[in-house]
Amino acid sequence: MTDVHARPETDTAPAAPGEAELAEAGLALEIDGAVATVTLNRPERRNAMTFATWRGLAAIGRSLPADVRVVVLRGAGPCFSAGIDLSMFSGDGEGFSDGSDAAATDRFIAELQEGYTWLRRPDIVTVAAVHGHAIGGGFQLALACDMRVVADDARFCMKEPALGLVPDLTGTKPLVEIVGIGRALELCLTARTVAADEAARLGLAEIVVPADGLDAAVADLVASLLAVNAGAAVATKRLLWEAAENTLEEQCAAERREQIGRLREMFGGKG
Ligand code: ACO
Repeated sequence: MTDVHARPETDTAPAAPGEAELAEAGLALEIDGAVATVTLNRPERRNAMTFATWRGLAAIGRSLPADVRVVVLRGAGPCFSAGIDLSMFSGDGEGFSDGSDAAATDRFIAELQEGYTWLRRPDIVTVAAVHGHAIGGGFQLALACDMRVVADDARFCMKEPALGLVPDLTGTKPLVEIVGIGRALELCLTARTVAADEAARLGLAEIVVPADGLDAAVADLVASLLAVNAGAAVATKRLLWEAAENTLEEQCAAERREQIGRLREMFGGKG
């Protein structure tokens, strides 16, 4: 089975999407040394997302230079993202599947999910900087990140069931992992909105700050993340994500394995 969390196995990353591709996807990308900032960049549409957006996110993930250690996801304008572009439902967007060809629809959704799954890769730490609304696919994008730094005006909503759909952009697993099955059911099946203070109580936000302090809080967090040894960060992220799936015995073994790798790298042991 493909490990969706692994860095692509190529010697050199494919070229980053160009300006035209990014613009069509409603995205902007800035890479500054070890930090990549991905901006959802259709503020006039409240950063509503299209199929091109999700493909663009996947292309960014595939093309990240190897020295990028932290990826920040943010939204331009008044909010993080209003979720899927609702104009696609009216039939003028690129064709929605009616589900009649299950295998083709499965492949199609899997391709879109690739826009999200790379955010859990151990070689990078991903931070969602959320202000204003994060709805549906936007909420799921925040959930796909390792951490969420949230402005006090943030509002999360898993809107899909209210529209007759299920959340299918990888959000159900992190949501249940973070808030538990009962709360996840309550949030999804009522499609209610969760404000920043409740998001913090539920564990959906690691940090809540006044809206005008969001950029500074993200910059502080990024600086702290970069201050930690890069190899240890990668190994520790891998270890922590494995913890939920592993038995105690498996996790103890994983800790030993990762530590051996660290010791070899730090002290030159050959084994
Ligand atoms: N798709 C397409 N266009 C959108 C979307 C969207 N999801 N959200 C907002 N827009 C457009 C509006 O139509 C409006 O366009 P207009 O200027 O041509 O009239 C513009 O963005 C601004 O939207 P407003 O509603 O005026 O902005 P406001 O800040 O008052 O509200 C909010 C923002 C709460 C996000 C509201 O726009 C909204 O509820 N949007 C729909 C959210 C939604 O149901 N998303 C689908 C989730 S399910 C999923 O993602 C799978």
